[in-house]
Amino acid sequence: MSKRIVAALAALSLSTGAAYAQDIKVGVILPYTGVGAELAQQIERGMDLYLKLNADQVKPYKITLVKRDSKAPDGAASKIAVQELLTQDKVDALAGWVYSPDAIASAPVVNAGKKLAVIMNAATSFITNLAPEYVRTSFTMWHSSYALGAAAAKTLHAKTAVVAYSDYPPGKDSLEAFKNAFEANGGKVIDAIPAGGPGAVPDFTPFFQRAKDEKPDVLFVFVPAGDHASAVVKTYGALGMAAAGIKLIGPGDIVQDIKLQAMGDAAVGLITMHHYNADLDNPENKRFVAAWKKEYGAGSTPDFTAIGGYDGMAAIVHAAQATKGKMDGDAAVKSLLGWKFNSPQGPIMIDPETRDIVMNEYLSEVVKGADGKLHEKKIAEFDNVKDQCKVLALGPCAPKK
Ligand code: PHB
Repeated sequence: MSKRIVAALAALSLSTGAAYAQDIKVGVILPYTGVGAELAQQIERGMDLYLKLNADQVKPYKITLVKRDSKAPDGAASKIAVQELLTQDKVDALAGWVYSPDAIASAPVVNAGKKLAVIMNAATSFITNLAPEYVRTSFTMWHSSYALGAAAAKTLHAKTAVVAYSDYPPGKDSLEAFKNAFEANGGKVIDAIPAGGPGAVPDFTPFFQRAKDEKPDVLFVFVPAGDHASAVVKTYGALGMAAAGIKLIGPGDIVQDIKLQAMGDAAVGLITMHHYNADLDNPENKRFVAAWKKEYGAGSTPDFTAIGGYDGMAAIVHAAQATKGKMDGDAAVKSLLGWKFNSPQGPIMIDPETRDIVMNEYLSEVVKGADGKLHEKKIAEFDNVKDQCKVLALGPCAPKK
């Protein structure tokens, strides 16, 4: 064969190879409008940044996002969006879900569609039990709130607590988780106050005034990240609760990085338990935060919701490689059982038994830095934490009688 023919054949096989590079369609369900719009932006930026920073891992596949708005966090729009993505857009995988009611309402459709479905935020523990297609790269309220219940008693030496929580599934999980661990370690929850829902930010004053009058050592609060969290810290400050000797504690949802600076001095001293904040000191996070600022502006910052998107996209890319681009639902889920990833939050793994994430939890305090800005200072670290609701079969994870 002449050299020219060989070269021509080589060129042909290269171009044919490129033509086979498979386009993988991922249906993304996020609240692009309404109360969760900022969270949707963070998750989407996290997904995009993973694809940009890890282009070599993605090759030869091309990931295309087909986006749908889940609107108000009541499940209705999300369920319809999932149905359309599966039947009309014929997506290869699903991803997103900021709010638990959206993931809960979508579960039967996700199950019927038989495609990998990566939960990037929604944090009610039992959601992954509702469909075997669900794999969670975000967190559950039991990861953070159970660990904080133990730390509140053992590290903060609190004896009494009042819990205020957004009255929907992750809030109930957060209460159950905190109460179980706090009371197992000698503390007492003296009141649990339902404080509005996720759809609109309530006035927290009456709830926190009730807590103040009860004079607990700590006020444990769960609200969904976003404007709810800003209002919590503002109300805590306005009621002079710190001066009254009541410490504000909670899962990291209440000090989301994108809201932290605007919280001002009222946030100083706040104690949280969570798997991520932008101040985490590890090489992977330094690289991630620097890349984020380069991409989205020096004044912007990633937060824990962005990490759910970043890690979730890493999971989808892993499944694409493992299934050679086929993305058969069963095989894609199977490829993620026991999957390990070096995330900016630290090492993570998908628990092969529960399809839920295993990750580190960091006990942190909000401090004012030499730069005049608020930062999160790590007090303690707990490695390889599993969702304790499922481990201990407690609360909503207890076997049905
Ligand atoms: C949820 O609805 O599961 C949820 C939303 C925002 C959070 C945490 C949990 O910060």
